[in-house]
Amino acid sequence: MDFKDVITGRRSVNFFDPQKPVSDDLLKEMVELAALAPSSFNLQPWSLVVVKDAERKKSLQKLAWDQPKVSEAPVILVVLADRSAWRPGHPVLEHNFEEMVAYGRLTADQRQWFEEACMSLYGESIEKQQAFAVKNTAFFAMALMLAAKHLGLDTHPMDGFDHQAVRKLFNVPDQYWIPLLLAVGYFKSDEKLLPPKWRKSFEQIVVEF
Ligand SMILES: Cc1cc2nc3c(=O)[nH]c(=O)nc-3n(C[C@H](O)[C@H](O)[C@H](O)COP(=O)(O)O)c2cc1C
Repeated sequence: MDFKDVITGRRSVNFFDPQKPVSDDLLKEMVELAALAPSSFNLQPWSLVVVKDAERKKSLQKLAWDQPKVSEAPVILVVLADRSAWRPGHPVLEHNFEEMVAYGRLTADQRQWFEEACMSLYGESIEKQQAFAVKNTAFFAMALMLAAKHLGLDTHPMDGFDHQAVRKLFNVPDQYWIPLLLAVGYFKSDEKLLPPKWRKSFEQIVVEF
């Protein structure tokens, strides 16, 4: 699918066909495409809990403003942002450092510089840790939605949910924030898709202070 068709065709659809499951292979392809999203120092602080089970989706729906799409969509992704992925010793950071050394992007004696750079950019305050995790994971989430559209799937991002309760339901450890839930499936063809919503113009977006 042409990129323009993907980005104009992506819509937050409210009605999913509960009879049309998403195959594991397609979901994997979608996630692998989205994983090509950029992230600071390539730290990729994102993870997903995949929810397909009807009972678990019902429980989640109750915690998500009772939005019916949570049950109707065949897949709900609980998108997680790892607030600790900048920390020395974190497996992703360590893997990254080794790769950078292996490919000659850094030398082994630059470890201290690398760790201090991560610490000062992301680790100095709770706000910085939160911003680091959510900012990077938001790029991944956008990539998930575009990858889904490219593969013929529809999505709906949601932050209308009780964060603490969802954390508890899925035993999500403290290091993660949950920036959004993402419903994935196929638009129910007998429902009406409303016209696209307005967007800010170029002139409204570009500012000067
Ligand atoms: C982070 C995020 C959270 C959202 N949360 C909800 C939600 O809980 N419920 C809902 O119906 N729509 C939710 N939306 C969908 C937005 O309302 C929608 O993206 C916006 O109106 C533009 O419509 P479009 O996505 O179809 O272009 C959310 C969107 C984003 C990006």
